[in-house]
Amino acid sequence: MTHPAIAPGNIAVITGAALGIGRALAQRFAAEGMRVALLDVDVEHMNAARDEIAGETLAILCDVGEIEALEHARDRIGEAWGPQSSGAPSVLVNNAVTRIGRGFDASLEDWHRAIEINLFGVINGVRAFLPAMQAADQPGLIINTGSKQGITNPPGHPVYNMAKAAVKSYTEGLEHHLRQNPDRKVSAHLLVPGWTTTGLNEHKSGAWLPGQVVDYMIDALADDRFYIICPDGETDEAEDRARILWGAEDITESRPPLSRWDPEWEEVFARQKRR
Ligand SMILES: NC(=O)c1ccc[n+]([C@@H]2O[C@H](COP(=O)([O-])OP(=O)(O)OC[C@H]3O[C@@H](n4cnc5c(N)ncnc54)[C@H](O)[C@@H]3O)[C@@H](O)[C@H]2O)c1
Repeated sequence: MTHPAIAPGNIAVITGAALGIGRALAQRFAAEGMRVALLDVDVEHMNAARDEIAGETLAILCDVGEIEALEHARDRIGEAWGPQSSGAPSVLVNNAVTRIGRGFDASLEDWHRAIEINLFGVINGVRAFLPAMQAADQPGLIINTGSKQGITNPPGHPVYNMAKAAVKSYTEGLEHHLRQNPDRKVSAHLLVPGWTTTGLNEHKSGAWLPGQVVDYMIDALADDRFYIICPDGETDEAEDRARILWGAEDITESRPPLSRWDPEWEEVFARQKRR
């Protein structure tokens, strides 16, 4: 059983589809018989990703940081695969990411750009495609890719964590908003991959491969789950649960923020987990 939006002939739009999880999503949706639009700024890898898919595809140069680029992509898809409403995607995955702006001292320009891509890229995707998805009156999925870093907030890459925390908050609010419509056909979901080998990186033991994330996501969508928190070869579901609860308890127990990385609390967390 798969979610009814994932069906032959339906359209899937994936941002950041040139590499990694986005590329694996494109392959999977095509294998399900869907028409797949790959959106990315990396033309070389995007075209290679398109060429390895046998079905109907479009590869569209699109910087998700710019709403006009997403609107242009929507119009291109409409022209290629039907008038505006029937060209609406059944599945939209806002997946593109940049990892620039590491550390508190990274340039302000990089911080702005990171927020533009990692947060506004998601918001722009929803704004560009949701009205057409709702008008199409067919089952629809909006999947926004978050991160465990947006939930547990580890030190090291604050602007990435901030953007992913905001993606979580935005997607939760969006899903609540969509649920208020008793006739709703479109639902929103938060995909949270674990440690996954992506980009041009070498695979390391303990990491998942992108295809494993996609398989996990497809099963979770069939169960209509909003939070799709993937484990990996190092971190199982119980460990994720302990980390998420610990982070929430920083607030309710008046501990310092990010206490899990504080020497005073590290051992307490480890002891509590063993219980
Ligand atoms: N890989 C992991 O371990 C991991 C863990 C948690 C969350 N995630 C999330 O999963 C998603 C996919 O990550 P990945 O690791 O597969 O990434 P990746 O680095 O393999 O691919 C990211 C893609 O986004 C594209 N991109 C960058 N800037 C863009 C822009 N402005 N417009 C359009 N496309 C742009 C890149 O060209 C690239 O093709 C991201 O949202 C990431 O935050 C990944």
